[in-house]
Amino acid sequence: MAKITFINRDGSETEVEAQPGLSVMEVATANDIDIEAACEGSLACATCHMVVEDQSWYDKLDAPSEDEEDMLDLAFGLTKTSRLTCQIRVSDAIDGIRFRVPEDS
Ligand code: FES
Repeated sequence: MAKITFINRDGSETEVEAQPGLSVMEVATANDIDIEAACEGSLACATCHMVVEDQSWYDKLDAPSEDEEDMLDLAFGLTKTSRLTCQIRVSDAIDGIRFRVPEDS
């Protein structure tokens, strides 16, 4: 299991133990994190956008695909460490990562 912390819009934090192999979006929605994830992971909506809290964590993730980058351009509140969480797989390598729910998604 990998520990993931979500920072909610109100500043509160939700810490969860996530099953490797799931997407971070699936973990977030299963734990009532307030994202829409309208397309359920088919890379067609950008409403699973979250901000990786720390550049060093962002650098540890596999680079986003071109399709993800194109879709990210449509996300509200885009930052340099933004990702679409349906495209990130939980693994031991991201144990301890922190994601912030963007203000205006
Ligand atoms: Fe739609 Fe991630 S859930 S792009």
